[in-house]
Amino acid sequence: MSRPPETSILFVCLGNICRSPMAAGILRSLAATSVRPIRIESAGVGPWHVGKPPDGRAIAAAQRHGIDLTGERAQMIAEVDYRSYDMILAMDRSVLANVLQRAPADATARIGLFRQVAEDVDADVDDPYTGPEDDFETCFVEIEAAAKTLYARLLEPTPEGSDG
Ligand code: 4NP
Repeated sequence: MSRPPETSILFVCLGNICRSPMAAGILRSLAATSVRPIRIESAGVGPWHVGKPPDGRAIAAAQRHGIDLTGERAQMIAEVDYRSYDMILAMDRSVLANVLQRAPADATARIGLFRQVAEDVDADVDDPYTGPEDDFETCFVEIEAAAKTLYARLLEPTPEGSDG
């Protein structure tokens, strides 16, 4: 049997230090033993934290759930990402608008709202950055639920001939 094609996903939030690294870490952990190879990265639309590790509160929330985010480093979404990823998933509507606004004419990635694509819910993953520490736990749990549904969808067989 031939090897299934790789899927690639870029999660995008505002600063790339809270929501999108959590989403990437969660989906990577779900996909760790997957028969379907999935390339998973994250990026932000803002430049402020480029090169920095995730917010300590995001690292701590993930750690409580057995996920290590300490190796993540913030980066900004780049033009090439629009051609090199299959999917670019924004964590909220304002990030989605920003991602769409930057899209080059030859973008091939499917661009969408994370929870919409993952679980058919037209809702944002709210930014926990300025909130209390508890918001990071809520945020993690919300992202984890959506990531599980997304992962299940990624494993669904695609119609023959589709690029999936
Ligand atoms: P994120 O949260 O978009 O989930 O990474 C934020 C992190 C930093 C900032 C805003 C949101 N900031 O303005 O620095």
